[in-house]
Amino acid sequence: MGVYSEVIFPRFYDCVMDKPFWGKYRKEQLASVDGEILEIGVGTGLNLPHYPEHVRRIVTVDPNPGMNRKLQRRIEQAGIDVDKRVLSSEQLPFGDETFDCVVSTITLCSIPHVEQALGELLRVLKPGGRLLYLEHGLSPDEKVARRQRRWNWAQRMFADGCTLTLDVASLLTTQPFSSVDCDTFYMEQTPATHGFMYRGVATK
Ligand SMILES: C[S@@+](CC[C@H](N)C(=O)[O-])C[C@H]1O[C@@H](n2cnc3c(N)ncnc32)[C@H](O)[C@@H]1O
Repeated sequence: MGVYSEVIFPRFYDCVMDKPFWGKYRKEQLASVDGEILEIGVGTGLNLPHYPEHVRRIVTVDPNPGMNRKLQRRIEQAGIDVDKRVLSSEQLPFGDETFDCVVSTITLCSIPHVEQALGELLRVLKPGGRLLYLEHGLSPDEKVARRQRRWNWAQRMFADGCTLTLDVASLLTTQPFSSVDCDTFYMEQTPATHGFMYRGVATK
């Protein structure tokens, strides 16, 4: 990883994303989380203040060590015991059927081999375990989608590999989950190219 990924991007990302309106959606998405929890692509820990009070321990993975400074500060503030691992979700060092919930927020867009990562999430989820997701991706509005395709190169360059064109609903429904709930909407105060959101629960 280079200086941009490890030093500049974490600061820029945190500054742009640490907004109350995002917090509201994070809190709603985390409201039903329970049991053994894995958060993938934890980043700077923007979800940590929004876990329900009963959550006292989570495991996290993220391959970017540059996220760690701000993450550590949020861990201390949240008072949650976090077992943080600097690694990618395409290859997880956890046993089969370890977790009750996996949390993914604005992360699937950044995973280079996302289908492989979903295979790993399915492997480490217990039967009936849930993937709770809040992701941005490809808009069904052709005018917006055209802009997303046109500017994707810039997004990938400046947002550390993040893509604007992931069709999250199609991706999840082609994986062997027993059910996938998906709700879509445009995020407030966000350009349509970056704010078409998919949220829901995929159950193993
Ligand atoms: C856009 S940030 C989202 C951070 C956080 N989830 C949030 O909601 O603010 C995407 C995160 O995914 C991480 N990431 C990139 N590739 C990954 C991979 N292969 N496995 C897990 N996380 C990855 C990045 O390092 C980054 O922290």
